[in-house]
Amino acid sequence: MADRPAFPKDFLWGASTSAYQIEGGAGADGRAPGIWDSFCRLKGRVDNGDSGDVACDHYHRMPEDVDLMAALGLQAYRFSVSWPRVLPRGRGAPNGKGLDFYDRLIDRLLEKGIEPWLCLYHWDLPQALQDLGGWTVRDSAGWYADYAALCARRYGDRVKRWATFNEFSVFTLFGWAFGWGAPSIADRAAHLKAIHHVNLAHGAGVDTLRALVPGASIGAVHSVQPMRPATGRPEDVEAAALFDEHWNRAFPEPQLLAHYPPRIAQAIEPYVQAGDMARIARPVDWFGLNHYAPVYGQKDDSLIWGFGFGAPPPEMERTAIDWPFDPGCFRDTLLDLTRRYRLPIYVTENGYGTKADETPNAEGRVVDGDRLAYLQAYIAAMAEAKAQGADVRGYFVWSLLDNFEWGGGYGTRFGIVRVDFTTQARIPKESARWYAELIRGA
Ligand code: FCB
Repeated sequence: MADRPAFPKDFLWGASTSAYQIEGGAGADGRAPGIWDSFCRLKGRVDNGDSGDVACDHYHRMPEDVDLMAALGLQAYRFSVSWPRVLPRGRGAPNGKGLDFYDRLIDRLLEKGIEPWLCLYHWDLPQALQDLGGWTVRDSAGWYADYAALCARRYGDRVKRWATFNEFSVFTLFGWAFGWGAPSIADRAAHLKAIHHVNLAHGAGVDTLRALVPGASIGAVHSVQPMRPATGRPEDVEAAALFDEHWNRAFPEPQLLAHYPPRIAQAIEPYVQAGDMARIARPVDWFGLNHYAPVYGQKDDSLIWGFGFGAPPPEMERTAIDWPFDPGCFRDTLLDLTRRYRLPIYVTENGYGTKADETPNAEGRVVDGDRLAYLQAYIAAMAEAKAQGADVRGYFVWSLLDNFEWGGGYGTRFGIVRVDFTTQARIPKESARWYAELIRGA
């Protein structure tokens, strides 16, 4: 059996998912379309023409999925609420049946002794709000705060761990600048407005949760993937510096240090009003870190900001989907974030994706040795970081289930539990068995 690095007794072990990636039930019980439903209908944008219409059918199989989490011994579960399920028009009249679903989920988690970690936004803006301009409209911060208030009033008696957003920089960059994700826009002004209004929404959300949820522990989930220039050429170094501001700094810095990083600060100024930085920088309780691998940036004039993705050095080890395998980078990121922001860190995502169809062997076991090795190395790196002073308090593996991996559709699998998308059968992979043992021994 693998090494079991030492973690304190109160270190929290969990798994993460998100609504659009697992729920399905796209038209069930009054849910309206979100921007990812629309994006999936665009030709050629998602591998194999997949969509989240059915996904893992978690909307109908939730009790069984919570039982699975309990069998694995998970101590915490991070899920997201689907805004278009609970507020089909994005604002106004709530959908009772949609709200009921999360009541049932939360109650079952608590019954099994699993702490619910509720994330309010994992990329699925209601299409009705996108039709009004979505995040480019300053009012979007108010729409979001009203949605947060609805969830806080409904679930705040039982849910104490709240995340305002998942990966601000990724959905704004991919959706509003690269055009590779919903709502598929590539426009500098729209992107800058989206950044600022999402930051304002975060601040308004923190205030709302603080006011309405007694004893709330509030954080935000950031994607931090250290940026390295793909070459030493000055134009690549400069492009990577701007890419770094966008990916790693455009949200944590205003939220936690009350300023934008320098290059963005200049560009975003026309959209910033007096008092905005104080509205954004509201005190939070923890830093949610999603980390997978370093990113190699370079100049790329085919994209609107002139930066894009370069190749990692050829000698670098890679995962099956070609992401760098660099546990040392994870350790350094944890240490660096502790120094920069001085907040307890929860690793809210980390995991291993593959395009291989990990089918059961003759004994019915799904042997995912590479994922297992990845998790072992990354968890060991986290232990090292902790020993060196990183204030890391918990770890959520991405993901509990194989699911709808955005542009990768169902062809890219991140689950520690295999899902057969024809029968919806779930089989814990070897990595899940190892993770369950790690938790038991922890
Ligand atoms: C993150 C997303 C998550 C999942 C993983 C692989 O960027 O937050 O939904 O797609 O990547």
